[in-house]
Amino acid sequence: MALLQVAKLGNPILRQKAALVDLDSLKSQGNIIQSLIDDMIETMHEEDGVGLAAPQVFQSLRLVVIECSPNERYSEAPNLPLTILINPSITYYEQDIVSSWEGCLSLKDLRGLVPRSRRIIVEYFDRKGVPVTVNAEGFLAVVLQHEIDHLDGKVFLDRMTDLSQLSYVNEFEKYIADKKSLESESESA
Ligand code: NI
Repeated sequence: MALLQVAKLGNPILRQKAALVDLDSLKSQGNIIQSLIDDMIETMHEEDGVGLAAPQVFQSLRLVVIECSPNERYSEAPNLPLTILINPSITYYEQDIVSSWEGCLSLKDLRGLVPRSRRIIVEYFDRKGVPVTVNAEGFLAVVLQHEIDHLDGKVFLDRMTDLSQLSYVNEFEKYIADKKSLESESESA
């Protein structure tokens, strides 16, 4: 396994529409996609992210890893089991919109208040190529919408409707974090 470099905002790869992963290639031995998945998981852990999309590590492919568990830094962090999503697509968006604070490993020092659908349905393939449907709400719905946006060349700034709600992380923690509710826990993805 290897740690990967994370692309920062301004790098054109973050603005490209990523290509579908060839599902047949998941099964071949010593496969490059399987090692990419392992490296992305390791990189996400190292960077303290709750999600990582392949374009963020310079691979323009429709592949996302997510995981979150309460830890020393974020004792209140929600629990999301490790999930690998290949060729994910959002097939349903609930009309109810909720706003929560997001961060991104590609925009590392920023936090922004981002409106998203409260509940979505996502169809994807796991790392064995098995199709999965997930009905996601709350924190999981936010993380999935954030990560799937990366596959279409979008970052959370593009989804913000009020740029006065954009902050550096230090200032966010000083002026905003203690005033917000638990539901709007901020994490980087
Ligand atoms: Ni991100």
